[in-house]
Formats: sequence, C-alpha cells, structure tokens
Amino acid sequence: MVMKTITRVLLVAGLAFGMSSAAIAGSHGKKKMAPKTLMGASGLALSDTCAGCHGTDGASGGPGTPTISGLSEPYFAELMAGFKSGEIPSTIMGRIAKGYTGDEVKKMATYFGGKPFVPAKQSYDKAKAAKGAKLHEKNCEKCHEDGGTNVKDDTGRLAGQWTHYLKSTMADYISGKREMTRKMKKKVMKLHTKGGDAAFDELMAYYASQQ
Ligand code: HEC
Ligand code: HEC
Repeated sequence: MVMKTITRVLLVAGLAFGMSSAAIAGSHGKKKMAPKTLMGASGLALSDTCAGCHGTDGASGGPGTPTISGLSEPYFAELMAGFKSGEIPSTIMGRIAKGYTGDEVKKMATYFGGKPFVPAKQSYDKAKAAKGAKLHEKNCEKCHEDGGTNVKDDTGRLAGQWTHYLKSTMADYISGKREMTRKMKKKVMKLHTKGGDAAFDELMAYYASQQ
C-alpha cells in the first residue's frame, strides 16, 4: 500500500515536471521504458501511467477516483481536453492531461473505451435508491439512457460510478464551476430548486444501486 502510494506520487511528480509519458516507469514499479515505435507509445503502454489511480484497465477501486473504462471515445477525449484547458475543474487531472498530445489521448480513449465498465461495489440506502430511480426517469433518462448505463450519446456513465465522484461533479455543475449543456442545466436546476440536495442524494443512491 505504501509502495503503491509512493509510486503514485512519483508518477504525478514526473508528469508535473513534464517528463515524456513514455519514459515513466510502469505503475507496478518496473524500471522499464514503454515500447516506443515510430508511431509513439501504444494505448496499453500509455494507460499504465493511469492504473495507479484508476485501477487496472480503468476500473477504479477508490471512491474519489472515477472508473474510466467503457466510455465513448469522443467523450473521453472531451474530458481530457476539458481538464487540459481548465474548463472542467479538477484536483489532479488538469496537470496530468497537459502531458499528453491529442494523438496520445485518442489512443488511450480507444484502449479504455474497449474495456468493460465495472460498477463500483458500494453501500447505498434502498429506500432512497427507489425514489432516485423515479427522479432519474423523469429528469435524466432522456439523455442518460438505460438508467444511466448508456454512453452512446457521449454523456458519461452514471450507473455504477463512485458516489463520491458523482457528488463532487454535481456540486461543480450546480455551483457553475463546470458548465452544463443548456438542456441539462434546465433539468438539473429545476430539480435542485424543487427537491434540493435531498433529491440528488436519492439520484446518487439509485446510481450506486446499479452494481
Ligand atoms: C494521481 C491519480 C491519478 C492519475 C495518475 C490519473 N488520474 Fe484520471 N482522475 C483522477 C481524479 C482524482 C479524477 C477526478 C478529477 C480530478 O479531481 O482531478 C480523475 C478523472 C479522470 C477522468 C474523468 C472521468 C469521468 O467520467 O468524469 C478521466 C477521463 C481520466 N481521469 C483519465 C486519466 C488518464 C487517461 C490517466 C493516465 C494518463 C489518468 N487519468 C491518470 C486521478 C488520477
Ligand atoms: C439534455 C440532455 C441531458 C440531461 C436531461 C441530463 N444530462 Fe447529464 N450530461 C449530458 C451531457 C451531454 C453530458 C456530457 C458532459 C457535459 O457536457 O457536461 C452530461 C454529463 C453528466 C455528468 C458528468 C459525467 C462525468 O463522468 O463527467 C453527470 C454527473 C450528469 N450528467 C448528471 C445528470 C443528472 C443527475 C441528470 C438529471 C437530473 C442529467 N445529467 C440530465 C446531458 C444531459
């Protein structure tokens, strides 16, 4: 655990100081150069840097770090670009995203997009989840289809994502730190006025219940 944390800190420090992503040791501590061909590092080699926080193949084991597998490629690239420009607020990803070219991001988007989304195992309140299911159907399902599992319309995955992460994302949206699309904003702000934080707690319980 300690070693893992140290590796993680080193990885982030390396990125923060502008090391080439290909020259960073693997997340398992191997002092190995990522295979560098004329085409640059592969999606698999690039993704090794992300595994320390996002888990092997993008299935995160911790509440503050979202699972990043199974997203659509355009949405994955949009998130990375948003972190890079600062348009999407972040604690860590802003610095990390700056270390990659658009081409490298594309390769990672393809790599992680091809891995299955693994729903987080987390506890939730059953009564709240039942209410949340109804709120989702009424306010979110139109775009976050199939109970928030469908990512085809480049919307991001809600079902099975870590509650802690979804909560901080919703807080950023509602406070205006992160911009919503016009139509989502209308729905979210209306629900917030009507149901307050309690309504969003219920929605989060519903997404957590989808394991
Ligand atoms: C030191 C830990 C750490 C590392 C390393 C890391 N991430 Fe992240 N990632 C986070 C955290 C924390 C968030 C939540 C946003 C924030 O606060 O920065 C996040 C969010 C994301 C998201 C947004 C997911 C969503 O659905 O909203 C994507 C995409 C992502 N990371 C991709 C990557 C990629 C690709 C790499 C490797 C190049 C990587 N991350 C490396 C910690 C990390
Ligand atoms: C009119 C379509 C629309 C509606 C309705 C909508 N959303 Fe979204 N949502 C989007 C789109 C598009 C994105 C992609 C990111 C962005 O543009 O901010 C998104 C992104 C998100 C994200 C970020 C996912 C991530 O990992 O980064 C969350 C959380 C979210 N929506 C929650 C909700 C909730 C909760 C509701 C219902 C109260 C809702 N949305 C209603 C279109 C919609």
